[in-house]
Amino acid sequence: MSEAKRLAGEKAIEYVEDGMVVGVGTGSTVAYFIDALARLRHRIAGAVSSSEQSTERLRGHGIEVLDLNDTGPLPLYVDGADECDPSKCLVKGGGAALTREKIIAEASERFVCIIDPAKRVDVLGRFPLPVEVIPMARSLVARELVELTGGQPVWRQGTVTDNGNLVLDVHNLRIVDPVAMEAAINQVPGVVSVGLFARRRADVVIVGGEPPRVL
Ligand code: 5RP
Repeated sequence: MSEAKRLAGEKAIEYVEDGMVVGVGTGSTVAYFIDALARLRHRIAGAVSSSEQSTERLRGHGIEVLDLNDTGPLPLYVDGADECDPSKCLVKGGGAALTREKIIAEASERFVCIIDPAKRVDVLGRFPLPVEVIPMARSLVARELVELTGGQPVWRQGTVTDNGNLVLDVHNLRIVDPVAMEAAINQVPGVVSVGLFARRRADVVIVGGEPPRVL
């Protein structure tokens, strides 16, 4: 499977143009993209990173990591996903970086999502849906998620996000209206963000393979 991830990550390099500040996601597929981006480091203006993990990898390659507050809107964001449906709506957050990923996706003109074929689904929800929560609201949000979604939230114990928060993974969902569910979960006090990328979904999806497929 990592070969498919590598092929997807390397294909995404075709979307990088000279002088760009590139938004960079998190995960094992993105790691291949960062490694490929290293070859272009003298031609780009830098990167905005979605996690400490990606920041470390970018800096390790000598790529300058910039603050989104200083860059303004970005032309390109490249990130992976845990699931992708036919409308390019995504479930993300398996790596607990969903909030910063959402911020950068929102700030970007084009969102290129890089996945291996196993991430494609007809209906989102087989992968447990991550929800980042303020620590004191963990139980409250879990109860409300049961009411709202009918799924079973499970606290991802031992995980603290880069923002100092916790993650609930909601199991047993069948998300037929991702835009509505994203909006509903966002309304619950204590929710920082939900790993549904539906309102701001991917613009382009690259499915790794020989050759990669662009959707
Ligand atoms: C991190 C994410 C990742 O993009 C997602 O978990 C996919 O990871 P990988 O490329 O390792 O399969 O959303 O929060």
